[in-house]
Amino acid sequence: MKLRVDGREVEVDVPEDVPLLWVLREELGVREVKFGCGKALCGACTVHVDGQPRRSCVTGLADVEGREVRTIRSIGAEGMLHPVQQAWVEGNVPQCGYCQAGQIMSTVALLAVNPKPTDEDIDAALSANLCRCGTYPRIRRAVHRAAELLAQSPKAPKAKAPKAGGGR
Ligand code: FES
Ligand code: FES
Repeated sequence: MKLRVDGREVEVDVPEDVPLLWVLREELGVREVKFGCGKALCGACTVHVDGQPRRSCVTGLADVEGREVRTIRSIGAEGMLHPVQQAWVEGNVPQCGYCQAGQIMSTVALLAVNPKPTDEDIDAALSANLCRCGTYPRIRRAVHRAAELLAQSPKAPKAKAPKAGGGR
């Protein structure tokens, strides 16, 4: 099966019922995308499919054939952090770090449709991204900071605006 991942065409030889997460991690070596629950409950495995956040642990390959899959590896411009990643670094957000790629991918998608979210907007958008270390206050501050950074650098790479209903 041919897929498009992080801007490049890849061919994988796996049964069609293998979830995208396993293909990303085991076939393509994208270990930044994490396995948490495997049941669409924690958000650790969040990637973008055509700009919309998706739980890759429950996404079938047939769903992504011919579509653009983007992982945290390619949300920044070449050699540069995405402003959301920059805000995460500035705010020293991660503790163990396990959930953070998913948190960042959900934040990039949020800011694509809501460039100035309130605390309530942030909590609603990220409520299904769980953090066992309880970094939620730092995540919230970092989302506000990322919104500022994006406003200051309009040419920064952005995710495409998700369609209504988003698929988280
Ligand atoms: S591993 Fe996919 S939502 Fe938890
Ligand atoms: S930083 Fe440890 S689970 Fe979120």
